[in-house]
Amino acid sequence: MLTAEGLNRTYRLPRRSLFGAPGQRYAVRDVSLALAPGERLGVVGESGSGKSTLLRLLLALDRPDSGAVTFRGRAVHPTGDLRWFRREVQMVPQDPYGSLDPRMRIGDSVREPLECLRVPGDHRARVAELLAAVGLDADAAGRYPHEFSGGQRQRVAIARALGPEPAVLLADEPFSALDVAVRVQVTALVQDLVDRLGLALVLVSHDIGVVQQLCDRLLVLKDGVAVESGATADVLRAPSHPYTRALLDAVPRLPEV
Ligand SMILES: Nc1ncnc2c1ncn2[C@@H]1O[C@H](COP(=O)(O)OP(=O)(O)OP(=O)(O)O)[C@@H](O)[C@H]1O
Ligand SMILES: [Mg+2]
Repeated sequence: MLTAEGLNRTYRLPRRSLFGAPGQRYAVRDVSLALAPGERLGVVGESGSGKSTLLRLLLALDRPDSGAVTFRGRAVHPTGDLRWFRREVQMVPQDPYGSLDPRMRIGDSVREPLECLRVPGDHRARVAELLAAVGLDADAAGRYPHEFSGGQRQRVAIARALGPEPAVLLADEPFSALDVAVRVQVTALVQDLVDRLGLALVLVSHDIGVVQQLCDRLLVLKDGVAVESGATADVLRAPSHPYTRALLDAVPRLPEV
């Protein structure tokens, strides 16, 4: 459904001397992937390994130097009218404090993408339905972001993302700004929604436990290169790449249940 073919994205390095050629660093190097409907892919790797860059390319927020993203066989270019694509592929932001306009009522924030993307139907009713789906009271619609906690704001951000009835959610560390107890609740909410709505998910996370809980496949990035991919259970049980082993050793593991 959502595919990436040979994505490359480089950034220029500062010149080392006046006469030297500017260097290049690959943030993402020859990464390909294919996401089937309903499939959940976890993207892991240490800081600077290219996870966010890959997600921005998949979201058409950034243009690859080479390679292509397609959705249901149709090429996705960062320029041009992407409304069709935005209705299908939505993002859950990382920072619930930065992602909502502080001057906008919650209901208007949730309604905004419905209007921008010209989603048909009764938007007022849809907003109420979305707020209920993420576990917020109906009166939340008339209130402002500052009246809400981080976890509640992340619920609003999820409601916004679900509004256009996307087929895919992309999320870059959506739980990292939340404290542990809230993180557990919001993770459970996302799992429940993704299950019920049959959504595909690409989840960037440092938290192997969350990835293990939510994702059926794993992609491991190192220095922009996909060094390992496979079924989550297989990769975690028998990581074939030394780097993946190191990554697993570096995090506290969930106890076996
Ligand atoms: N706008 C930019 N200009 C220059 N270099 C960049 C830019 N954005 C990213 N990079 C570089 O690209 C590489 C990949 O960055 P990216 O943000 O994708 O990593 P990440 O895996 O998301 O890291 P983190 O876990 O810290 O969020 C890094 O070396 C980074 O310094
Ligand atoms: Mg990142």
